[in-house]
This record gives sequence, C-alpha cells and structure tokens, in this order.
Amino acid sequence: MDPQNLSIQMSKFRKKLIAGNWKMNVLPSMAEQLVNEILDGITNANCDILFIPPFTHIPTLSTLIHDKESVFIGAQNCHYESSGAFTGEISPEMLKDLNVDFVVLGHSERRQYFGENDKLINQKIKSALSQNLKVIYCCGESISEREAGKHKDLIEMQISAAFSGISELELSKIVIAYEPIWAIGTGKTASPDQAQDMHNFIRVLLSNMYSESAGEKLRILYGGSVKGSNAQELLNRTGIDGALVGGASLKVDEFCKIIGAAG
Ligand code: 13P
Repeated sequence: MDPQNLSIQMSKFRKKLIAGNWKMNVLPSMAEQLVNEILDGITNANCDILFIPPFTHIPTLSTLIHDKESVFIGAQNCHYESSGAFTGEISPEMLKDLNVDFVVLGHSERRQYFGENDKLINQKIKSALSQNLKVIYCCGESISEREAGKHKDLIEMQISAAFSGISELELSKIVIAYEPIWAIGTGKTASPDQAQDMHNFIRVLLSNMYSESAGEKLRILYGGSVKGSNAQELLNRTGIDGALVGGASLKVDEFCKIIGAAG
C-alpha cells in the first residue's frame, strides 16, 4: 500500500483537531479568562478544538464550553481503576462525570517523570475507553533514538504494546499524537518532512495492525514546539491531522493563529 495515496484519498474525512495541553500551568482563577479570550479571538475555525487543562480547572471549562459546537475538554491523565485506595489519583469515571471528552495517555512527561510504561498505559487506555472517554495516545522518540536511526522501531514498539487487546472499534475512539521528545518545549520543531514521514509510518502500521479503513480514519496529531509561525507548513501536509500544542496553547494570539492555520 502506498501511504501517500492512502492518506491523500482519505484526509478529507479526518477533521483536523487542535488541542492545547496546558500541562501544570494557569491558575484556576485565570482559566475562564484564557478560554474566553481564545474563543473570542478565533476568526475562522473549521477544526475541532480541545482544551486540556489541569484537573482542577475542568468544572469551570466544562461550563464554559458545554454549548459550543466542535469545542471539547480533555484531561491530562487518569488512573486505570474506577475507584479505590489510590491516593492522589483520578479515575476515568470521575472524568466522565465531569463531561470530559478526551484523556491524554502516554505523554512523554508521564513516562519520564512518573515512570509510566506502555503496559500501564495499555491498562489506562482500556479503562478510559470503557468509560466512553476518547483517548489521545502520545508516542515519540528521544534525540538519541532518532540519531541512532531507531525512531521507527521505537514507535512501533510503543504502539504495539500500548494497543495490545484494543479492538478496531476501540481504535476509532483513539487519536494518536506523534510527539518527538526532542521537539517538546525546546523550540526545535520536527521539519514538515520528518513529521509527515512519521505520520505516514504510523498510519501504515495501524493499517497493518487493524485494517486499511481503520488506518484511513485515524487522526494523527503532531506535537512539539508547534506555534503560530510553523503551524501552517505542518498542518498543510497530508497525514498531519492536527496538533497537540503545549506552550503556545497558553498564548491567546499564538493558539488562535494555530487554529486558523488548521482551517
Ligand atoms: P510544546 O508545544 O510546548 O513543545 O509541548 C508539546 C507537548 O508536549 C504537547 O503535549
């Protein structure tokens, strides 16, 4: 199968998604203002927009966006159990009860600072899906893995472990975010060619694991130093179905520009 043709054929069926991962930023008392300024600043949006604030901000944001079409709310993590003695954790059921639409799992910062591996992430994905949450599954290689030419092997290993036991129907509730670790928060973006090459690789991988049509429908986002000035060249590429944005999602003008570039 020629990945380029496959992607070109089907990209019109994949609505772009621009997601802002706030990470551990923004005080709860400032969240309403930030969201309102972003929503007011959007001039043309033909994409889905997703706000991913810290847990503490979710009720405020839920109220703000509940009547807005194509605007969604996400959480940055969850536990795999639905309740119990897990001090400090948040369950998928709790997120669903707050009308959360998406949960980010497998982010490289969770892997790096909290020791999460794909076996644990696999448990979390299954649990989140069972609560009807959609999942943004993050994968990406370090600079040493890329320099050693092992980036594709690494992504394949991450995805096969994380998606073990996930059905094709469940895959339709998953968005993959390709986030090379060396591009996160560094100002070093993957070039459009590098990003597109990886997106094509991931799409073919998933097509082979599931089916051609599952691969065609899968949304794959790019993440890593996306900003107003480079969004267009990335989002114009076939197979790049949106962006998972960190730092620039906290800046009204930047985030609005990225949303505009997806239109
Ligand atoms: P930056 O956009 O700040 O590089 O962060 C990317 C990211 O990690 C989004 O999840």
